[in-house]
Amino acid sequence: MRIIGSGKTSGKEAVKNKWQEVWKRRSWNQSAAPRLQDLIQLDGYDSGAGVIPVGDWRDYTASIGKKLKLEDGMSIFEVGCGSGALLYSLSKQFDIQAGGVDYAKGLIEAARIALPTGNFEVREACDLDVEPQYDLVIANSVFHYFSLNYAKQVIDLMLAKARSKVVILEIPDIDYREQLELLRRDALGVEEYEEKYAGLPHTYYPREWFLNQLARDGCGDQIVNGFIPNYALCGMKATSSKYMRLMK
Ligand SMILES: C[S@@+](CC[C@H](N)C(=O)[O-])C[C@H]1O[C@@H](n2cnc3c(N)ncnc32)[C@H](O)[C@@H]1O
Repeated sequence: MRIIGSGKTSGKEAVKNKWQEVWKRRSWNQSAAPRLQDLIQLDGYDSGAGVIPVGDWRDYTASIGKKLKLEDGMSIFEVGCGSGALLYSLSKQFDIQAGGVDYAKGLIEAARIALPTGNFEVREACDLDVEPQYDLVIANSVFHYFSLNYAKQVIDLMLAKARSKVVILEIPDIDYREQLELLRRDALGVEEYEEKYAGLPHTYYPREWFLNQLARDGCGDQIVNGFIPNYALCGMKATSSKYMRLMK
């Protein structure tokens, strides 16, 4: 397994933006443990076109389990795990060993409460520790906060950390940039959208970018269309894509 770029020296520009401040403001301050719907909201699926009801989230994670042939006993590590909504939901379906990193301390604290046996760390994606390895290394709805340069570093670290599979989900597709931005704007209204997202850009990716970056090792690569049920941002054909690198 190769590691290209330690992530220690470059690429930090991706996180020196207002997004980090936005995520750092989120935390769980109640005495009761967060429920799945709380985790989904903490992770940002709580406004405008980004809303995901709990039933759809369960269906989405069940589809992930099916597509990736997840089984009891597997270890799953999530990059940019937030409060652990994805891992928590998967842990209700499979007996998994979960781990994750996120740069938002308040969200990692919530993940630790929700998944007490998980191994969670406050850490930037580009500083991911490749040891210990996990069977599956996954990222969901995070890559749009990275620059392309930063994303490449993170992918290399994910590949080094994964024993079996690397999967990157919810990647905004550059071919649908205009439609996606209109959809997000219309869901909030122009004024609120402009106020909320001023200085908060998303990175859009060409589908080929993933394949070109990683055309090596003879592993099977797949790109599939988004599959969160009823999710506005997956509503148009192929608006968000999923990159799946099937390593074995
Ligand atoms: C939309 S939330 C998704 C959370 C989780 N993956 C999920 O699907 O429920 C995006 C998360 O990415 C995290 N994030 C964004 N950029 C990051 C970076 N450079 N390093 C670590 N975490 C990052 C944010 O703190 C936030 O928790």
